[in-house]
Amino acid sequence: MSGLDVGVYGLGVMGEAFALNLESRGLKVAVYNRTAKRTSQFIESRAKGKNIQGFTGLREFIESLSRPRMIILFVKSGRPVDDVIESLAGMLEKGDVIIDCGNSHFRDSDRRFAELGKRGIRFLGVGVSGGEEGALKGPSMMFGGDFSAYIEAENKIGRAAALFENSRCSGYFGDGGAGHFVKIVHNGIEYAVMQAIAEVYDYLWRGIGMSSGEVGSVFEEWGEGLLRSFLLEAAARVLKHLDPETGKPLVELIVDVAEQKGTGRWAVEAALELGVSIPTIAAAVDERTLTTQRTLRNPTTQKVSNSERRAGEALDTARDALLATITLSYIQGISLLEAGSRIYGFRVPEALRVWRAGCIIRSRLVEELYRELSWSPGEPAATALEKSHNQLEELLPSWVQFISHASGLRIPTPASMSALSYYLSLRSERLPANLIQGIRDYFGRHMFRRVDRDGYFHSDWGRGQ
Ligand code: 6PG
Repeated sequence: MSGLDVGVYGLGVMGEAFALNLESRGLKVAVYNRTAKRTSQFIESRAKGKNIQGFTGLREFIESLSRPRMIILFVKSGRPVDDVIESLAGMLEKGDVIIDCGNSHFRDSDRRFAELGKRGIRFLGVGVSGGEEGALKGPSMMFGGDFSAYIEAENKIGRAAALFENSRCSGYFGDGGAGHFVKIVHNGIEYAVMQAIAEVYDYLWRGIGMSSGEVGSVFEEWGEGLLRSFLLEAAARVLKHLDPETGKPLVELIVDVAEQKGTGRWAVEAALELGVSIPTIAAAVDERTLTTQRTLRNPTTQKVSNSERRAGEALDTARDALLATITLSYIQGISLLEAGSRIYGFRVPEALRVWRAGCIIRSRLVEELYRELSWSPGEPAATALEKSHNQLEELLPSWVQFISHASGLRIPTPASMSALSYYLSLRSERLPANLIQGIRDYFGRHMFRRVDRDGYFHSDWGRGQ
């Protein structure tokens, strides 16, 4: 009897949706969940009548699969993934494949790849983006790990990926945690873009006095142009949705405390470790944290609505600032990818290629950046900045005005501000780092380099030491 094609371990939102997706592409799927009740519920409801078999015993689940076995994990990242791998590994044979499709840290995937490799089990860490709908209809898939396993997996589960102009949005990024590294960068950009959109909403709603629904309509309109993106479309839908019980915009009834599962923070930590500046992504993570600091938050400003400013002018400046901020969020992400590519050996444009459909940050901008970078010989982030130069220069006056007007109204714009500082810093012929070097040398003999000669120098700074 030939076995089932692939096993899905973990029937949460993503696991269920992905199992259904795989089945819809012609695969025979085995499913298992730690609590058997969940498995039977799934088999009796959404999986009913489909080529999906549920198992309550782990051994039967494993034995049901054709060799080499391919088991996909949708398990909470961290310790639970290690526990599940340990419970599976003893029952698997050499050459079998474990595929972690959760949001794992790339360093964990590096380690699991190495440890399982020693036991003859092939490991793949896959960044899967697109939320529940993506998992069901076609996510973007970022593979890392054992290359031979990738070739086999691409053939099977790669079929479930989203298509962009008939090309699959799945790709291989290198050994170990390469795929999860790329996913972490994706999430860093996701955080920055969401924060930038939220700031513009705050400005238009609290500052200019538009209703949430009106802001939603504006976002819808902008989404037809240069700002076309899944996240702006999602924001428009959220803003226009009315709470069925109260009739009020539901968004206004949501507590203003942003949660996070850690992937944005990991992007910032990785950037710090790798020596890459990603201030807008960092500002977005930080602002989420700030919203949780309840005792420190001490409101002195309410809804400030400013009738003096014509809404039309405010809208234009806000739109331009949003485009500039989002562009620089992507450029910062590309810069982090570049650092990762030196570890894992992937080509940066490959990430943009697989982000063109299925994932949360899919957008017109990703498509353009991919087109511009795919054949450019230079360093990707510098090339992306050069290619965006003229547009960013055009946006600059509005961008400054937006930040200044919002600040005057006491509306915070951390993502927009950090993106502007990033841009101005990168474009400055000279930065005041010379003074920093001077002060370091003044108090600690840290030495400095001079513009007019080679080598390192120390001065007594007139103290006669
Ligand atoms: C995706 C998303 C997803 C992530 C959520 C929640 O690409 O589909 O990145 O993987 O889990 O966006 O992330 P936070 O809870 O950290 O906001």
